[in-house]
Amino acid sequence: MTTPRKLFIKTYGCQMNVYDSERMAEALGASGYEATQTPDDADMILLNTCHIREKAAEKVYSELGRLKPLKDVNPDLKIGIAGCVAQAEGAEIMRRAPVVDLVVGPQTYHRLPAMEAAVRAGERPVDTEFPAEDKFEHLPKGPRAGRGSSAFLTVQEGCDKFCAFCVVPYTRGAEVSRPAERILREARDLVSRGVRDITLLGQNVNGYHGEGLDGRDWSLARLVRALAEVDGLWRIRYTTSHPNDMTDDLIAAHGEIAQLMPYLHLPVQSGSDKVLAAMNRKHTAAMYLELLARLRAVRPDMAISGDFIVGFPGEDDVDFEATMALVRAVGYHSAFSFKYSARPGTPAAERAVLPDAIMTERLHALQALITQQQRAVQESMVGREVSVLFEKSGRMEGQMVGKSEYLHAVHVTAAGISPGEMRRVRITESMTNSLNGILI
Ligand code: 5AD
Ligand code: SF4
Repeated sequence: MTTPRKLFIKTYGCQMNVYDSERMAEALGASGYEATQTPDDADMILLNTCHIREKAAEKVYSELGRLKPLKDVNPDLKIGIAGCVAQAEGAEIMRRAPVVDLVVGPQTYHRLPAMEAAVRAGERPVDTEFPAEDKFEHLPKGPRAGRGSSAFLTVQEGCDKFCAFCVVPYTRGAEVSRPAERILREARDLVSRGVRDITLLGQNVNGYHGEGLDGRDWSLARLVRALAEVDGLWRIRYTTSHPNDMTDDLIAAHGEIAQLMPYLHLPVQSGSDKVLAAMNRKHTAAMYLELLARLRAVRPDMAISGDFIVGFPGEDDVDFEATMALVRAVGYHSAFSFKYSARPGTPAAERAVLPDAIMTERLHALQALITQQQRAVQESMVGREVSVLFEKSGRMEGQMVGKSEYLHAVHVTAAGISPGEMRRVRITESMTNSLNGILI
């Protein structure tokens, strides 16, 4: 019997990369690879990269510098670059870094087994095509590894919105939605292996318009309604959404479907209409606030999370103050904020960037406000009842940790709770990054 080769995947960036890394592991599993948790004993290392913000390629080169000595220890070690940096700069990386054996983009990883064989035959394959075939259908079927109670499921990929700052339309390509039948099949498969909480993934997930079971295009709301009928699937979430695709039926679904969790990641990027226009967002701050009001009308406890960019070209103090005002008006459950970073090939990359000191100052002010809101939301949970889907043991003796419907981590110390169980919990205390509670 041959011993299996070992595969180490390092994942950067978004949740879709996490999902893709799992699929790559499955694809190479069919070629006899099994996962390892460290690069040190690996026979194949894949860096699943992210291109969204600056220094993406530099990070890859410095990681390659760290990994290179491992090839002296294990001459059979192969190193591959996957993900969005591979898509954007793969050929260049191949030229500049002889240590790299293969480059695979986000749309071709179902071809990894063939590429791996080519590498073993001494080639250095690069595949960053946008192929016509559906990669998901070309991945190995059969049992996936055992897993916890929550999972990601990609339903849509790519983006046609072309925000002026964003590389996604170039690295992930045009919007493509998977047919509902395949999504339902994958969801049932996940549920049969103990998954109870599924997050539907897409760069523009609420723009989902895949083929439905009736042959017509289904909206995300329609898909969610079908998923809500899968027995044993208790919780449905979706991310990331664009305000302009927040349709009436999706808003209504939040008031009607118990399995659809009261949590929405809805990035707005800026609170200034001038900046939003320059970003090509095609919505105003008022439209965004109105959307949230409609969501909260059907689901008053809706937790909102967001993304912000500070220092977009042309942003002045008044614009930034408008962002702060919008954040104050929303009351975010959580939000991510970033300094603007010019990305090669995007329209905004041509424009003059603001001094870094101004961006840093604005970022700190925004982050302080967001942290304050996050704390306030957490504090407001004390005394309330939530449902917790337990995942694993906590650090303390007898303690279990799980997620509330609002994605708060909740710790409970009690006997007889198993992972995968959902229980009603009363929140007793708000800690720095989690809540404590007792079983009801
Ligand atoms: N600079 C800074 N932040 C960016 N994002 C996307 N592109 C850029 C960029 N060029 C942020 C946006 C997006 C999140 C995933 O990353 O806020 O919502
Ligand atoms: Fe990028 Fe805008 Fe598309 Fe989001 S909606 S992926 S920010 S282009």
